[in-house]
Amino acid sequence: MAPATTIYVCSSCARESARWAGRCSGCGEWNTLIEEVRTPASGRARGHRPRRPTASPARPVSLAEVAAAEHERLSTGIGELDNVLGGGIVPGSLLLIGGAPGIGKSTLTTMALANLVAAGRRTLYVSAEESAAQIRLRAQRLTLGAALQIPVIAETDLETVLATLERERPEVCVIDSVQTLHCAEMSSAPGSVGQVRQVAGEIMRVAKALRTAVLLVGHVTKDGALAGPRVLEHLVDCVLQFEGERERTYRTVRATKNRFGSTNEAGVFEMRDHGLVEVLDASARFVADATRAPGSVVLCAIEGSRPLLVEVQALVCASELVPPRRVVAGLDRNRVALVLAVLGRHGGVGLGAADVFVNVVGGLRVDEPGADLAVALAVASAAKRIALTDSGGQKPVSCFGELGLTGELRTVAHGERRLREAAKFGLDPVLEPGGHRTLRSALATAFTATGRPQARAAA
Ligand code: TYD
Ligand code: MG
Repeated sequence: MAPATTIYVCSSCARESARWAGRCSGCGEWNTLIEEVRTPASGRARGHRPRRPTASPARPVSLAEVAAAEHERLSTGIGELDNVLGGGIVPGSLLLIGGAPGIGKSTLTTMALANLVAAGRRTLYVSAEESAAQIRLRAQRLTLGAALQIPVIAETDLETVLATLERERPEVCVIDSVQTLHCAEMSSAPGSVGQVRQVAGEIMRVAKALRTAVLLVGHVTKDGALAGPRVLEHLVDCVLQFEGERERTYRTVRATKNRFGSTNEAGVFEMRDHGLVEVLDASARFVADATRAPGSVVLCAIEGSRPLLVEVQALVCASELVPPRRVVAGLDRNRVALVLAVLGRHGGVGLGAADVFVNVVGGLRVDEPGADLAVALAVASAAKRIALTDSGGQKPVSCFGELGLTGELRTVAHGERRLREAAKFGLDPVLEPGGHRTLRSALATAFTATGRPQARAAA
């Protein structure tokens, strides 16, 4: 068998070269050459192989003849995680858990394995980042009895990991992380696109043969800049995204791709001293904690397919900078810029010379157009220094809706569910597209002085 060689393939035009270069000689694109391993006899090489003369044609069958596989599920023992996965881990599937460093990926996967061990499943934890002693320290913090029973290896060499998988044949295996495993045949550094693709591809090949479910842990930087996990998204069955801010307590897990379930689910967790805890009453907490001060409003958001009430806060103050500052946490910056522009043009709240800060309380991230109205109301409330509460001054005003560029309020998905969630906590009024067609009319209702002691005082 010829020895393995590495070649460089352009990710744009697929031209192959023996040596790396900054620019592809085929298409002229920069930084597109990615290292790949070629083992001629293994048949893994792609491209222009002559067809095997022995290959016999396959007989296509109609889909009706195909037996529908009912997927058995392995429960991770973490309700929110099982829910996001569509009922648990499908045996033999490949999952990718992406998230910023320190968010809790190792903690979540360790907890899942501990529960699987307790349920009598064969597992394996491969750590290419931490020593076995460090993993043990983490496991000790968790209040899960079986955490110390998880079989672990601390290994960065891909071949060793594959050999271990073949011998141990676990039902569920965690690879922490895919960027730190290293394929010795390749000269590029661990974590480079070529390495990550090779590592994931090899693990998938072995895992599918053994019917091992693999959870690949991958780091993404805040803006998702690191190419590593991104190139894996088409390869894996399921992509979970772990979001939130490291310094804050709340984190969300959501599926952005799921071949065995919907991508509508999201789970909310809280990082405590003894691991991640599921937060089942998130709405209740956020409503109770809402400040009801000027600049605060409650947003009826949808996390996955579940309604969630969160507090959106804004601060508006005179700026000494040109251009003034726009600081946004938990929302899309560009979306907030758009809302501020609409607010200035159609809501009569000009912010040209003011710094504006907008934040979703609790470190949550809300990525949906339904948050527009909440941003507009919070900023308007902060700018006018008028608190938005119900007529009794007790409950915060809640809202949802998308803003159009002409100042209209647009309908968003799951309106009924959002209203029901707000009603559950007795929030009234709820400003939403069903009751108001424009931003102007929503603002007018929010700031009506009638029966509003603070508003009257401020006016
Ligand atoms: P970790 O799971 O190591 O994050 P990741 O693998 O995504 O990089 O843990 C993240 C942080 O959580 C770490 O700074 C320590 C903290 N933590 C707790 O607060 N409580 C706990 O029980 C554990 C295990 C970690
Ligand atoms: Mg980790």
